[in-house]
Amino acid sequence: MIKEKNSVNIVLIGMSGAGKTIVGKYISKILNKDFIDTDDLIIEITGKTIDCIFKEHGEAYFRQLEKDTIKNISSYKNKIISTGGGVVLDRANIHMLRENGIIFYLSASIDTLYRNLGANIKEDDRRPLLKYSKDLIEDISKLYKNRKNLYISSADYIVNIDGKSFETVGNEIISIFDSIYSCS
Ligand code: S3P
Repeated sequence: MIKEKNSVNIVLIGMSGAGKTIVGKYISKILNKDFIDTDDLIIEITGKTIDCIFKEHGEAYFRQLEKDTIKNISSYKNKIISTGGGVVLDRANIHMLRENGIIFYLSASIDTLYRNLGANIKEDDRRPLLKYSKDLIEDISKLYKNRKNLYISSADYIVNIDGKSFETVGNEIISIFDSIYSCS
């Protein structure tokens, strides 16, 4: 492995509802590295919620903001980076994130995603792409079907989250991360 342990980023990708943010915050606390969430950066830069950006300017505009944000942080080192679920739609994003990062895909079953995303959440509080869904399971499945191969091909490591607490998932990632460097 060429990347240095103390400078490499841990990058989390995966569908909305896979727990990237909560797992990322946990890892950042345990490893004492800064946490960055690309959606939060977009909110900071624009002063608008992700929902407003989608509503006012559409998805293509959001994707460009997402790409610009990733370009801006691609030179960062020693961070825990949580990304938006659609980051894999543009291969250039993954190339930039891989420059200084190891990419972990948090995989989840449709049932888990549904439970985390929609089951008890008011329509208004849902993610923009699922907000007006009439059949959440069907729409989550469609998104997942379109992205599954992209997640897999973008990942250095895949960690399944079904039935696990965020601490368990975080600890699995930390132990993979440690094992990468155990003999270097
Ligand atoms: C999106 C996921 C969201 C956010 C935006 C688009 C997607 O992030 O970037 O609503 O395309 O799946 P989370 O994965 O954090 O929900």
